[in-house]
Amino acid sequence: MISKKMNDLLNDQLNFEFYSAYLYLGMAAYAASLGLNGFSGWFKFQTKEEMGHGAKFYEYIQRQGGDIVLGSVASPKQKFTSAAGLFEASLAHERKVTQRIVGLMAAAKKEADYSTESFLLWFLNEQVEEEAQLVDILQKLAIGGKTGNSLLILDGILGQRK
Ligand code: FEO
Repeated sequence: MISKKMNDLLNDQLNFEFYSAYLYLGMAAYAASLGLNGFSGWFKFQTKEEMGHGAKFYEYIQRQGGDIVLGSVASPKQKFTSAAGLFEASLAHERKVTQRIVGLMAAAKKEADYSTESFLLWFLNEQVEEEAQLVDILQKLAIGGKTGNSLLILDGILGQRK
């Protein structure tokens, strides 16, 4: 069992995970429009991951006897100024997600809802990975440069993501 309040908070995060998927899908389209198909593939991979995150919230809410309420998914930002800007925006977004997960954990702790707290731990660890991955990409861009050959090399590397 989860409380109504926790149910609402988890539904809200379910929605936000699908918003994240949508955001990355828009980034994939922008990268493809620049001819950076490796980056585009990387963002499509991100999209699938976010949908998987949304599904985890869905399953957990149901397992706990809660109600699934699917709100509308907001239209994400789709205009960017550079390929590097995609990764800067991604890191800013993931930091926001981390704060949301921390907020959910705090709410679960306050209710002594240890099951939800335990469920959320996976997401907290996932956020460490997500942020580290983006910091790594941004460091590579800082070293190699944000245009020209270095961008093409990184496009080739990120396109191998499986
Ligand atoms: Fe669902 Fe990128 O965190």
